[in-house]
Amino acid sequence: MPGGRWLPGSGEVALERVLYRSDAAESVSTQDVLDIIAASERNNPKREITGFLIYDSDRFLQLLEGPPLEVEALLGEIAGDDRNVGMEILLSETAEKRWFPDWSMKRLISFGSIPAQEELRAVLGDGNGGQAILDEVNRFLDS
Ligand SMILES: Cc1cc2nc3c(=O)[nH]c(=O)nc-3n(C[C@H](O)[C@H](O)[C@H](O)COP(=O)(O)O)c2cc1C
Repeated sequence: MPGGRWLPGSGEVALERVLYRSDAAESVSTQDVLDIIAASERNNPKREITGFLIYDSDRFLQLLEGPPLEVEALLGEIAGDDRNVGMEILLSETAEKRWFPDWSMKRLISFGSIPAQEELRAVLGDGNGGQAILDEVNRFLDS
């Protein structure tokens, strides 16, 4: 997957990164979450969107990175998806490179599992600027 498109002359990569949290609707089951992951794996490569989705204690934390118009469109779609409510944007920034180029939507459903946490830490905690996201992930899991 490409890291984003170069804008001719601007020297910048058109990439946006958004982290949000939301509450799962009361009726949401594990199967719903698996359906969401399946939709992500089906759609996100076409949209050049990568990231991760954590489902923990009936809440979602999702990181989306990709072309700004695609990220905005998907965010709108998710905000209107009745499987979740109360979307709150925690972080929104222009990015120069993807943190998760290989994850069409990494599912970290049971985040209590040590390997999942270590995988995220390995990507974000290497001193290259992913610390803000890691801080939000930790805050989310502690709350
Ligand atoms: C918390 C949450 C995260 C979601 N993340 C994605 C995503 O990354 N990619 C995606 O295509 N759909 C995602 N969805 C599902 C979309 O809202 C929508 O149902 C889906 O894109 C429709 O896909 P389809 O037209 O292929 O059925 C998410 C839904 C929720 C509730």
